[in-house]
Amino acid sequence: MIPFLLSTVVAVATPERVAGKFSYLTRCASCHGTDLRGGDAAPSLRGVGAADLDFWMVTGRMPAAVPWIEVGHRGQQISTREVRAIEAYVTNLAPGGPPIPEIATGGNLTHGRALFTQNCQQCHGVDASGASIGDRGEWAPSLHAASITQVAEAVRVGPDNMPKFAPSQLDDPALGDLATYVISLDTAAATGAFPVSSGGPVPEGLYGWLAAGSLALLGYAFSKRSGRTTADDSRPGEERQC
Ligand code: HEC
Ligand code: HEC
Repeated sequence: MIPFLLSTVVAVATPERVAGKFSYLTRCASCHGTDLRGGDAAPSLRGVGAADLDFWMVTGRMPAAVPWIEVGHRGQQISTREVRAIEAYVTNLAPGGPPIPEIATGGNLTHGRALFTQNCQQCHGVDASGASIGDRGEWAPSLHAASITQVAEAVRVGPDNMPKFAPSQLDDPALGDLATYVISLDTAAATGAFPVSSGGPVPEGLYGWLAAGSLALLGYAFSKRSGRTTADDSRPGEERQC
């Protein structure tokens, strides 16, 4: 009994959670409340889980400067040590929600691409550069700034208008394949080497038209060139006339 009580006390009051309490009270409580219950300024954080807390803090969405002003990915604002401490404090006070997914790089790209086409492309666009969604001017952001862990967290957490995917719908190995594919699109976008074959019928058609257009232009330029050659050939005669 005594060892049990002792271990409970030790578990509750780790230095990290003490630091986390301080950070939470100074950085988050003004909006989310000292009891995590939220209010007019922000939603409740009870039972949100580490993946949720991590996603919102590491992408720089939180701590917000002003309540209810939408901010997207703008880079982590507070130190990783503080982020971890706040996660430890909040998840200990009000447990629940998904943990931070542990995702290995090097997943299966073909499977990842199929999952992306099926579940993500309709909002984020075929090359994950972002696209408008719905008819109220809403926007699904580019995924090129997100790390592999942030991609996996977003899938588990479903921020705002994004649906969330539980492990029963998308297990961790599948999530690894998907996140690996999303990250591969960063390089493709940066080097311009976007994999056309993943584009589906519409973009492929577009690329077809672009290719046909360039061929037509080339043909035009070539005919102009040969036309000029003919003109050049006749020029010496004209010059002599001057
Ligand atoms: C100025 C007010 C403000 C401060 C300070 C603030 N938040 Fe928030 N937070 C919000 C609002 C408003 C939302 C809802 C945003 C939305 O849905 O677009 C939110 C949403 C969240 C969410 C998502 C909740 C959900 O339901 O999925 C998390 C997690 C979160 N905040 C964590 C934090 C943490 C941790 C801190 C401190 C480091 C913090 N916030 C500081 C206003 C604030
Ligand atoms: C119904 C539309 C929709 C679908 C489907 C969707 N998302 Fe999102 N996603 C959004 C919106 C909207 C946001 C922005 C939320 C915010 O800023 O609070 C977002 C944000 C994200 C972010 C955060 C990007 C950043 O750097 O800030 C990632 C990563 C992400 N989504 C990945 C995915 C993946 C992977 C899938 C497929 C499993 C997916 N999304 C499916 C709408 C969608």
